[in-house]
Amino acid sequence: MDFKLSEEHKAVQQAAREFAKTRLLEGVIERDSKMIHPSEQVAEMGALGFMGIMTSEKYGGSGMDALSYVLALEEISKIDASAAVIMSAHNSLALWAIEAYGSDTQKETYLTPLAQGKNIGCFCLSEPEAGSDASMQRTTAEDKGDFYLLNGVKNWITNGGKADYQLVIAQTDPDKKHRGINAFIVEKNWEGVTVGPKEDKLGIRSSDTHSINYTDVKVPKQNRIGADGFGFKLAMQILEGGRIGIAAQALGIAAGAYELSANYSTIRSSFGKPIADHQAIAFKLAEMAMDIEAARMLVYRAAYLKDSGEPYGYASAMAKLKASDVAMKHTVEAVQIHGGNGYVKEYHVERLMRDAKITQIYEGTSEIHKIIIARNIRRGELALPI
Ligand code: CAA
Repeated sequence: MDFKLSEEHKAVQQAAREFAKTRLLEGVIERDSKMIHPSEQVAEMGALGFMGIMTSEKYGGSGMDALSYVLALEEISKIDASAAVIMSAHNSLALWAIEAYGSDTQKETYLTPLAQGKNIGCFCLSEPEAGSDASMQRTTAEDKGDFYLLNGVKNWITNGGKADYQLVIAQTDPDKKHRGINAFIVEKNWEGVTVGPKEDKLGIRSSDTHSINYTDVKVPKQNRIGADGFGFKLAMQILEGGRIGIAAQALGIAAGAYELSANYSTIRSSFGKPIADHQAIAFKLAEMAMDIEAARMLVYRAAYLKDSGEPYGYASAMAKLKASDVAMKHTVEAVQIHGGNGYVKEYHVERLMRDAKITQIYEGTSEIHKIIIARNIRRGELALPI
């Protein structure tokens, strides 16, 4: 078993690290405080190939693997978790689905500009009453022959205000329950699409989260992705991959908090020595380092399984569950290590702590991840595979 990264993977990691330090660090506190979207930096992420990192080169992407994606997200999240989720939702949720199941026309029309970073994508699944219970879709897409008539509201949509193209999940035939659900590509400028006000969030405040309303939106038949009734299964598959991205985001948040804490504890002294030399702090740092390494193994392994073409649903659920818990636990510890300084914005760790919380909630709460893992165990699909 080779735990070393290849030269190509190290190069992506280095490029993302450099970008985060030189282009995201400056202004990150102000963007968080005033909820300013990092539009300039997102455009630069497009130029670097990060906005189509896993999309094939044929459609304007970088054609890299999921491990490259994870490495880039981890580095970006250490500095700015908002920029990371913009990249993650765009790549994992919108682009992946179009490449995997879109028609040639959908790929040419939508995927190419998205992968080149010229346009932004979002995934509209959640609703006021369909969060964890994703099949309870109230948004309807009535089949009108040549087109579908879309009506409803979507909530907490990452990239919701900026996305040019929206991947919308809606119910076409309620009698068929989840088998009556479809997925559509909807353009932001179509009549009847209205983006609601920006959400004022606890964390990831410079990412763009909105509700989106659909009132009698005419969606051409050719904008449905896949066969009639495939929408719910598509959404579940999208989330399997999306969770790898959020796991990488959580890992980066935890690693960022650790790096800041390790550094701070060598420059901050108390009782006549650097606080790192007090066992109380040294033990915290040791636990942080160990938990982050353990989470990293799960996250990289989920990416490896996806790259190998093997089932990765349970692995992405485990990675996301573990990494998000590690991020939450150790960002709290990072604030504690920083003492009073940790409680003010200048030292970054309070922001990382606020950013960590969402990783335990979106793309499925921690409880949903336990359900997914438990179901795999019950089906006998999880016999401690190595
Ligand atoms: N791949 C393919 N098909 C799948 C699947 C998968 N991973 N998981 C389930 N399915 C299929 C099943 O086979 C079944 O199909 P059939 O009936 O035809 O056999 C169908 O889907 C229904 O399966 P379940 O009965 O298992 O579904 P369920 O209603 O019990 O729900 C769940 C399962 C795992 C709880 C699911 O609802 C879920 O994942 N909930 C969480 C939703 C979520 O993550 N929301 C996040 C929103 S997006 C977001 O957060 C983005 C952001 O901001 C960054």
